Amino acid sequence: MPTTKPTIMKKLNKNFGRLKPVGIREFDYHASTIPGIVKLTLGEPDFNVPEPMKQAAIKSIKDNDSHYAPGNGTVALRKAIAHFMQDRYGLTYNPDNEIAVTVGATEGIYASLTTVINPGDEVLVATPTFPLYMAVTTLLGGNPVEIDTSADDFILTPTKLKQTLAAHPDAKALVLNYPSNPTGVTYTRDQIKALANAVKDTDLVVIADEIYSELVYNGTHTSIAEFIPGQTLVLNGASKSHAMTGYRVGFIAGPKELMGPVSAAHAMMVTAASDPAMAAATAGFATKEGKQATLKMKAAYQERRDFLVAALRKLGFTITTPNGAFYVFAKLPAQFGTDDIKFATDLAEKGKVAVIPGAYFGAGGQGHLRISYATSLANIKTAVNRIKEFIDEEN
Ligand SMILES: Cc1ncc(COP(=O)(O)O)c(C=O)c1O
Repeated sequence: MPTTKPTIMKKLNKNFGRLKPVGIREFDYHASTIPGIVKLTLGEPDFNVPEPMKQAAIKSIKDNDSHYAPGNGTVALRKAIAHFMQDRYGLTYNPDNEIAVTVGATEGIYASLTTVINPGDEVLVATPTFPLYMAVTTLLGGNPVEIDTSADDFILTPTKLKQTLAAHPDAKALVLNYPSNPTGVTYTRDQIKALANAVKDTDLVVIADEIYSELVYNGTHTSIAEFIPGQTLVLNGASKSHAMTGYRVGFIAGPKELMGPVSAAHAMMVTAASDPAMAAATAGFATKEGKQATLKMKAAYQERRDFLVAALRKLGFTITTPNGAFYVFAKLPAQFGTDDIKFATDLAEKGKVAVIPGAYFGAGGQGHLRISYATSLANIKTAVNRIKEFIDEEN
């Protein structure tokens, strides 16, 4: 095994030293070592990939579909994505030059942020949120500006945006994620329209991570791109809608001029996504079966959400109703104060239930827990019983 030459360690990208520790994975790793623990930590569907998508991947392999695809993804998948965006959200994107298939939304986040950021640039991020935006911004030499939305039910209001811009007038981009990881909160059509109106007067590039857009329970998802398409990059993919996290297919859609550098950055990182995975995603986005598979999973998530939210409220947690994704962001009962890391650690060690401390999701997350219901109803019921016992004992 090689040993790293010590002197070269000082020469690496210094921005690694500015990164905050990635709490989620470490916490999950620690919790996983506790025997008999029930985990409500995961941010990925517990369902298998639906059969039509699996078959499409198998067919792609059997057909020797094994060469470099076009950088922006196969024509079939880009057409399927254009259909999906039109069918679900009324958005029109040209598959020739306004859509790039990425290796998961994760790569989409990197490709879009690297398109925008020069060292020292500020990026506004509505928090609490998926911490990757802050991490990537930092690694690229930028500075994330967290906008705490907890006082507004986790919605970024036009007023809050304007206040933030007054203090950070040169910010380059605004990152929004809705339905949200970790809060499950999503924007109504009126809320997103109002925010878009406030953004319209600025030169902010909006990076809208809408990866959970197919998992909205009451009503439907409205993309911010509907109102400000000329300054929005929409990130989405098959990971959550089609339970395909391991296949690694995401996409970015945006106006042609902006998509030029985005696609160039993407190609430098990965050349193109993998052929069988893209074949599977094509079936997911283009077919009736793909749409039905999502609806079936959504119905199961909704049943779990309804149970979990009601049960946690009974135990004294305060919850802003989550209308999307598969997370509940629960504020600790008052007697436990605001130390979510201590609560989650004790709950894991004594109560044998793993959830993620809210503080890991940025400003506004402290005092909360992210509880994922991407697990069976039976697991959720066991977890709720254990949380009740834990609270009774701690009281
Ligand atoms: C908000 C958000 N964006 C992006 C991702 C990553 O998606 P993908 O697996 O497609 O890279 C996740 C995964 O949990 C997420 O919660």
